[in-house]
Amino acid sequence: MNVLLIGSGGREHALAWKLAQSPGLTTLFAAPGNPGIANHAECVALNVADHAAVTDFCREKNVALVVVGPEAPLVAGLADDLRAAGIAVFGPSKAAAQLEGSKGFTKALCTRANIPTAGYVHVTSLEQARTAIAPFGLPVVIKADGLAAGKGVTIAMTPEEADAALAALFAEPGGEAVIEEFLTGEEASLFVLTDGAALVPFGSAQDHKRVGDGDTGPNTGGMGAYSPARVLTPELERRAIEEIVRPTVAALASEGTPYSGVLYAGLMLTNTGPKLIEYNARFGDPECQVLMARFEGDLLALLQAVAEGRLAEAPAPAFAEVPALTVVMAARGYPGTPETGGAIGGIDAAEATGATVFQAGTKLAGDTLVAAGGRVLAVTASGPDVASAQAAAYRGVDALDFPTGFCRRDIGWREVERERA
Ligand code: AMP
Ligand code: GLY
Repeated sequence: MNVLLIGSGGREHALAWKLAQSPGLTTLFAAPGNPGIANHAECVALNVADHAAVTDFCREKNVALVVVGPEAPLVAGLADDLRAAGIAVFGPSKAAAQLEGSKGFTKALCTRANIPTAGYVHVTSLEQARTAIAPFGLPVVIKADGLAAGKGVTIAMTPEEADAALAALFAEPGGEAVIEEFLTGEEASLFVLTDGAALVPFGSAQDHKRVGDGDTGPNTGGMGAYSPARVLTPELERRAIEEIVRPTVAALASEGTPYSGVLYAGLMLTNTGPKLIEYNARFGDPECQVLMARFEGDLLALLQAVAEGRLAEAPAPAFAEVPALTVVMAARGYPGTPETGGAIGGIDAAEATGATVFQAGTKLAGDTLVAAGGRVLAVTASGPDVASAQAAAYRGVDALDFPTGFCRRDIGWREVERERA
């Protein structure tokens, strides 16, 4: 079967790497892909925003399944247009992808379905926001209502910070914001596959969103991750599924907009149980890299079963018992303005240590691989425990020759501390 993978990041490189191991795959195409993905796929320069062009490509190349990596094409309705043309898609419709695209939508659904989440108000003017924020106390969480790639969130510690965040959100006409109660606890990410009816857990992970060691500095898309997140115990995972994910999937189905694809629940494990922080309509990046490192089945068959509404018949996903950990190498300056063009060497040497190097923001300048984005590589390794997986990933990192890159040196620290205790 021919498959088209949409995207160009480390998440998509991990998906391409795993899809390439599926016996049912004939040709994998990737749009636009990257030099790492090109090791497993034929990269094509399709304009993903042009849904008719993507549909035509699929017809011309006999593509039987489209796997959508990032959220933007989902929120733009690419899956709807492909399905209307009779092409199977792994990824939710525009209506269901609002779980990620609109915080207001998700919060309203949580209220309707009685799903545990932070208390909130949805506001549409600065005046309304200034009045509504008072009862929340401090710290208070302020979020833009829309796709913000993790950058639309302010945790305000003072009234001045809160006011500045609100003023910025309402500086342009048409601003909308969600003001939220600040939750305390440890965060974990839970992944679930669903075709709108059946629902199967697909692993857990813990991301590291801040740029600096010890979880300091500005938020990023994610500087590293490990899987599984053992802090999400089997009992907490069961609660998260029964109290959060299943009611969400059921509500969307009963409202005529069933969710099909992977649902990523960002959870806060509070002392009263798991609460939903946010949903994403796709795999996490870099969480996908560690999930794929552990996944042991036929990815293509599984994603196809989801896309075709046959998930109930598919074998239950199996994962390696041993943990995997990934360290993101970012370009100097990230998450501000990353320095692009820096040469990247040593990928073979890093992989010779046993690590797998997934590429994200890379491109070829002549024969030289260079940095072309903020997050550049994700160096991934496994080990009998998280401490060993961490050591193995950093052996890979240390074999690289990427002078304009940097990484955190403490990915997995929470679990490593627990393992020591
Ligand atoms: P989001 O884009 O909604 O995932 O928010 C980004 C990050 O902000 C999350 O990963 C949390 O670390 C933090 N955050 C978001 N909402 C809350 C909340 N209600 N309480 C505490 N922290 C939060
Ligand atoms: N790593 C966080 C995300 O993919 O949203």
